[in-house]
Amino acid sequence: MLVLDHLSAVLPTKTGVVLLPQAVMMRRAGSLPLCRRPLRSVVYILSCAGAFILGSLMTLMSVDPMRCDIHQCTEKIKRIDVEDTNSWLGMWGHNNKGPEKNVFLVIVFLSAPVNLEQRNVIRQTWLSEEKSDTLHFFVVGVGSLSEDLNTTIQSEQKRFGDMLLLNNIIDSYQALTKKLLASLVYVHYNVKFRFLLKCDDDTYVQISQLHRELKGVPYKQRLYWGFFDGRATPRKTGPWKEADWVLCDSYLPYALGGGYILSSDVVTFIATNSKYLKLYNNEDVSLGTWLAALDLHRVHDTRFDTEYKSRGCNNDYLVTHKQSTLHMREKFNSLKATSLLCREQFQVRKSYKYNWNVPPSQCCVRNDSSIP
Ligand SMILES: *[C@@H]1O[C@H](CO)[C@@H](O)[C@H](O)[C@H]1NC(C)=O
Ligand SMILES: *[C@@H]1O[C@H](CO)[C@@H](O)[C@H](O)[C@H]1NC(C)=O
Repeated sequence: MLVLDHLSAVLPTKTGVVLLPQAVMMRRAGSLPLCRRPLRSVVYILSCAGAFILGSLMTLMSVDPMRCDIHQCTEKIKRIDVEDTNSWLGMWGHNNKGPEKNVFLVIVFLSAPVNLEQRNVIRQTWLSEEKSDTLHFFVVGVGSLSEDLNTTIQSEQKRFGDMLLLNNIIDSYQALTKKLLASLVYVHYNVKFRFLLKCDDDTYVQISQLHRELKGVPYKQRLYWGFFDGRATPRKTGPWKEADWVLCDSYLPYALGGGYILSSDVVTFIATNSKYLKLYNNEDVSLGTWLAALDLHRVHDTRFDTEYKSRGCNNDYLVTHKQSTLHMREKFNSLKATSLLCREQFQVRKSYKYNWNVPPSQCCVRNDSSIP
């Protein structure tokens, strides 16, 4: 099990994971010379015998990577993972149409149990224009939920079937990073997809426009697309504090959490390395940190209005954060009536272009009001 454990962690791609049994075989072949030497200890005999039995079993179970289809393979890998992931990742019993799904875009919303109204308004407004090759989940921690709220959530799930209910996570601000990681692991093992959009339940997305752009995006892989920041000094108190942050005196560049896009290979990297990842308090800071070492296309796009406070309304905004249900309906109605997002465009705060040639502390100067 240790061998499997180790290999599943170091093979970062979906193909890598599927090739796992082959990698095990190679390891087994490598240990053969030990069998030929004078048997020094019982341990050698046991490990050789164990490797032989494991190999035979795998042949019997026909997990030949060339033959099993992706769903059979991920089924098996999934079981391995369940054994050695932290208990809070134990949501595999979730009843959805997952494994058969093959979609272009997955949308993951981090949502709080009580935010039924926000979820419904999103369902009635921009999600109502979701394409058939798109799948969405509202991710909610349902550990230790009150009986009333649990009943409400269960009937919501029965009605819409679009929630990822995490039994082992007690929902709170502090659980956002766990919820994000659990979602990425879940989506990796249960859905075949090209891109993932992470949103909050107060995010408005011009979904048709975004969908069109994604179809033509020049980076099909290694994509990390959103509105980047990195200059903030880590806080020591308050809801966004990062008491454990020691990597640098600012954060590392990360796309702000109101909405960002990852290509599926990036999600694979995170899902298959999940147990090694340090969970910081903020999910977006965590994601930027997990991906900091990778050679990615970090695309800073000012049409992602995804900061802690909206910069205003601009018809070009693909994603806009911190929207009340009223604002969502307004934007939806405006788009219906005029094909424009905003009844009136305005800017309450300047935006910036990210400067990738300087350290994060100097990345982001708000000195140009012509930037949306
Ligand atoms: C919520 O309801 C479901 C289904 O009725 C049940 O399986 C689960 O244990 C309940 N959870 C809590 C925290 O009461
Ligand atoms: C804004 O600041 C950046 C970085 O300091 C500088 O390169 C740029 O010319 C400035 N733009 C304006 C309009 O002042």
